[in-house]
Amino acid sequence: MKISKVALLACMIAGVAMNVGAMGAKEAPKADLGKKAILVVSFGTSYENTLDKTIGATERAISKAFPDHEVRRAFSSSIIRKIWAKRGVAIDDVVTALDTLVAEGYGEVIVQPLHLIPGEEFHEVVQLIGSYHSRIERLALGAPLFAGTESYSAVIDALAASLPMTRSNEAVLFMGHGTHHPANSTYALTQMHFSDRGLPVYVGTVEGYPGLDEVIPKLHKDGITKLILLPLMLVAGDHANNDMAGDEDDSWKTILTEAGFEVTIMLRGVGEIPAIQALYVERARATLARVDEVDGK
Ligand code: CO
Repeated sequence: MKISKVALLACMIAGVAMNVGAMGAKEAPKADLGKKAILVVSFGTSYENTLDKTIGATERAISKAFPDHEVRRAFSSSIIRKIWAKRGVAIDDVVTALDTLVAEGYGEVIVQPLHLIPGEEFHEVVQLIGSYHSRIERLALGAPLFAGTESYSAVIDALAASLPMTRSNEAVLFMGHGTHHPANSTYALTQMHFSDRGLPVYVGTVEGYPGLDEVIPKLHKDGITKLILLPLMLVAGDHANNDMAGDEDDSWKTILTEAGFEVTIMLRGVGEIPAIQALYVERARATLARVDEVDGK
């Protein structure tokens, strides 16, 4: 989805013109149930390379799977959107994207988040779209990657199939984001699934529990001496490049190297994995099926 700045500007002007027109008429444009869109919502990233390989690739997979739907992008992070705006690239927040779809008369909108866990970011989207149910006839929200107890095996399958090869005494250590939200338990469950499969995979988080303090003793106990560090995040962005792989004193690479581990870095967001992209397509498909069911189609 390569969009030139000129095309983006043209879109923005067209969008503004339409909004003005709609307001001038003092009535909502007539919604057309034949006009269908999928709004793909992510936190966003300022790292251009990972953006295209993860969020961009997932949006393309969704576009391909639903050719009758217009696929649009929204970032929930205002900081990230500001960074892109400074580079001349306008990216909508969820509200702006939905307002534009309403103004353009879309009668069906599926909002598909690319969040991994049903945490705070996801629930912000839930809240934001609440007021749009009266304005968009067929509006529904898709589930995040870890969508419930049954969703785990497919996600773990997808992650396990794309793990790097490990040598003896070597393990993969995923850096999850982590959160104060109860959905932080996702990381513990993910660890359990990997352990139950007997895979040499450990899960830690940068902002939640478990952190490195909890993971390092486990690694020692299990006789691990070599580690491959991988983000358990959609993108390999700021946390992956700095908190995980950076040269600062407090990066995981530095701390683990000082703790005696031989560390290899793999800067790959989970959004790069085609099987994970396919799971997001499935989430959107399940949501569409729900919308159709409600309409008795
Ligand atoms: Co963060």
